[in-house]
Amino acid sequence: MRPWPRDVIALGGDYNPEQWPREVWDEDVALMQRAGVTFVSLGIFSWSWLEPKDGSFEFDWLDDILGRLHRGGIAVDLATGTASPPAWFSLAHPEALPVDREGHRMWPGSRQAWCPSSTVFTRHATRLAQEMATRYHDHPALALWHVSNEYGCHNTPCYCDTCAHAFREWLLRRYRDLEALNEAWGTAFWSQRYVDWDHVLPPRLTPTFANPTQVLDYQRFQSDALLAQYLAERDVLHSLSPGVPVTTNFMTQTGFRRLDYHRWAPEQDVVSTDHYLVTRHHDVAAELSFAGDLTRGLARGRPWMLMEHSTSAVNWQPVNPAKGAGQLVRDSLTHVAHGADTIGFFQWRASRAGSEKYHSAMVPHAGADTEVFRQVCRLGQIAARLGELVGSTVQADVALLWDYEASWTVAGPAVPSNRVDYADVALQVHGALRDLGVAADVVHPGADLTAYRLVVVPTLQLVRNEHAAAIHAAAEAGAHVLVTYLSGIVDEHDHIRLGGYPGAFRELLGVRVEEFRPLLEGQSRALDDSSRALLWTEDLDTTTATPVVRYADTGRPALTRNDIGAGSAWYLSYLPERDQLAALVASLLDLAKVAPPVAAPSGVELVRRARDERTWLFAINHTDQPQELPVTGHDLVADTAVTGVLALAPGAVAVVREA
Ligand code: GAL
Repeated sequence: MRPWPRDVIALGGDYNPEQWPREVWDEDVALMQRAGVTFVSLGIFSWSWLEPKDGSFEFDWLDDILGRLHRGGIAVDLATGTASPPAWFSLAHPEALPVDREGHRMWPGSRQAWCPSSTVFTRHATRLAQEMATRYHDHPALALWHVSNEYGCHNTPCYCDTCAHAFREWLLRRYRDLEALNEAWGTAFWSQRYVDWDHVLPPRLTPTFANPTQVLDYQRFQSDALLAQYLAERDVLHSLSPGVPVTTNFMTQTGFRRLDYHRWAPEQDVVSTDHYLVTRHHDVAAELSFAGDLTRGLARGRPWMLMEHSTSAVNWQPVNPAKGAGQLVRDSLTHVAHGADTIGFFQWRASRAGSEKYHSAMVPHAGADTEVFRQVCRLGQIAARLGELVGSTVQADVALLWDYEASWTVAGPAVPSNRVDYADVALQVHGALRDLGVAADVVHPGADLTAYRLVVVPTLQLVRNEHAAAIHAAAEAGAHVLVTYLSGIVDEHDHIRLGGYPGAFRELLGVRVEEFRPLLEGQSRALDDSSRALLWTEDLDTTTATPVVRYADTGRPALTRNDIGAGSAWYLSYLPERDQLAALVASLLDLAKVAPPVAAPSGVELVRRARDERTWLFAINHTDQPQELPVTGHDLVADTAVTGVLALAPGAVAVVREA
């Protein structure tokens, strides 16, 4: 067995010792021990240190630090080192640099400057992976392989000639003949018909909108091209380093949707992800919870690893606020609530030079005598106590569907409203559930839905027939289903499903939409329940459904209910105001007989993790008031008994081993 920290929630982060002289390394290991750090990710951006010249490798420094870490009892998530090729690679192979939509070839000098389709890159990356696996497979510190870093963070989409060629091969595998491609892409429109495969290009800069199906396929292709790069390295590791799990860190922040992680997740030995708070979200903390549920969905319910988040500020937003008091611990434990068994940070020691020198770290510029480091140490103590829940899982009665392909069609090109963001309704519904203390699984439309009592389908613009059928079957079997506007509109080729929206769900919902009425900035529309519709509205009629709320001006249905089989199917044709959405979610929970694990005041997030007969209740007070919950057991955060009443200060988290 490999030495992945057992009996604790693993705590650690990215460690970049090559940025520091060796005296600092000794201090690092001592401070890691003091903080309760049990793992580090090593070598992620070390290619130019591992292979300073083409084919000549230098491992002494890595041997040295691996030895120190091992002696210090710290397990290593060892990177293949291939995240950023060195300058020599880019200068020798300029064709492997990515090209943007306008044809600009990018230069080396930042990171991830490589083309997703480059086979020259694959050759060099797999050679380094091979060297690493051969040298370190037997190293006692090695616990996990970490391939590359955040695939696609900067280098997709690439529009270079290599990608053009690889795209044609990908299309050939998908469509087999050109007529099938013409049909799928709808090339009868705007004289786009192809008569020769060599004429097919990436959707580069065009005078006006590029073909939307071409754009959609290009996104699929780019995701697959990067996945192939991952698989090439992973296969090297599997063959040369059997028994050591392999992962690559995803970015399941809701704003990152360049890769179809539903296709990537099954290829991971353990799902790992990074998460950073983005200030543009209406509710930053709610987005974190959503991302945790999404990651758990990708991991098919199994525990996952939080590979990176920040102790405090990041450095890549226009303004980068520092975290508030208690937030470091609260954010970390929220990830654990949603299924993480590992808490990782970027990075261990704050850099003194380079583009990330203003990014927070576990050891800040001011050193270990700081509040951040004290909070890291506190987290280390809590992570040790939480070891008893490692391997436990979250049970949820609510499923919320999330699909990267649907998010791509919502984003366009040429859609009814650029104001609609794929994540908006999903986040708002999820936020309402969270305020009510109800856990949800965020899953792919192809997931098994049979066990859920409430299934939420937000803006699932693209849906495949079999997925629409499975949603329908879930309702017939007794689930209550909420479908929102802009769902079921197109098929997998981004072709409209004719006969009235929401095409794929018309029968399930018993409605027929004739026209979209998206709203302009500042506009809203009155409803007959004296609330207002925001962002999006429609002209629809019911076929078999019953109107629940109507548009005040036209008197036509706005929210409808269709009883079907043992369940019901609700259609929400507009974006409600926050309170109205929360009320709707609450009434659907009543109908579906889904309740929070304990009665909790609104704004207290509750998630129960369970293993065998044992349960642990996570309670996170997101309000600015002290709250009390009826719970009995032992709070592993405060390390105190809870007898009947759990008192939670504003912003506090408790993890109660329930009696
Ligand atoms: C991640 C990345 C890290 C670091 C971090 C800063 O995207 O994996 O290397 O750049 O962001 O927030």
